[in-house]
Amino acid sequence: MLVSAKEMLTKAKAGKYAVGQFNINNLEWTKSILLTAEELKSPVILGVSEGAGKYMCGYKTVVGMVNGMLEELGITVPVALHLDHGSYEGAKACIEAGFSSIMFDGSHYPIEENVAKTKELVAVCNEKGMSIEAEVGSIGGEEDGVVGAGECADPEECKMIADLGVTMLAAGIGNIHGKYPENWAGLSFETLDAVQQLTGDMPLVLHGGTGIPEDMIKKAISLGVSKINVNTECQLSFADATRKYIEAGKDLEGKGFDPRKLLAPGAEAIKATVKEKMELFGSVGKA
Ligand code: 13P
Repeated sequence: MLVSAKEMLTKAKAGKYAVGQFNINNLEWTKSILLTAEELKSPVILGVSEGAGKYMCGYKTVVGMVNGMLEELGITVPVALHLDHGSYEGAKACIEAGFSSIMFDGSHYPIEENVAKTKELVAVCNEKGMSIEAEVGSIGGEEDGVVGAGECADPEECKMIADLGVTMLAAGIGNIHGKYPENWAGLSFETLDAVQQLTGDMPLVLHGGTGIPEDMIKKAISLGVSKINVNTECQLSFADATRKYIEAGKDLEGKGFDPRKLLAPGAEAIKATVKEKMELFGSVGKA
């Protein structure tokens, strides 16, 4: 059964580790992530962007697929199904469809409007026992058409949003989605420290987990980050393994064209990436 992300993140913050949010795109992604979490006895959050939700034929299809897999694969670790960078309408649709967690990304609204909309959604999520993530300071880069400049959050605004009763808070600290450019300045630990000072026990979320050096990940966790989002890195691993399979001509040997064979190396590559991240984040054995 799907669970809210609240308990797993409260434990992570107290235990100084982070739970990974891995974005899903299809059946192979979902299965690889769930099997790895189970094997490593790690809690996990499945992230669904609005674009990926549409691609998978809508939120109800996603809920059906994930719930089916939890049962049929015998998954026992805590799993949250979470809307990633949701609009106000998207958040409502996911609440209806049976997600266990949502992110409402109101970072592009003026702070007053971000506060008003977040407050309304907090009330609905509380009533349903769902977790809710809010964002202050936009995350840079582009993800499914959502473009942000990568600004650092204002710690006072973070406190204002945290005080609305959200479960976890994404604060921009110079992180961006996708690959980091050569001239990236790195994470602003000064901002992160200031945000944590003001928000206390609130689990903080680090978006743009792909390509952040290990030492920065560890330092971010030590400063209160308890959820780290990874998307692009699984896509790159999948694409790389699939390209190697095709370039080696394996799809032309015997029944190598069968999608169950053709997609297998990519699915294994996702498992390896998820395992590497769970080990780095410290969530192994914490289920
Ligand atoms: P990456 O694609 O950079 O890993 O970012 C994922 C993310 O933050 C999802 O919200």
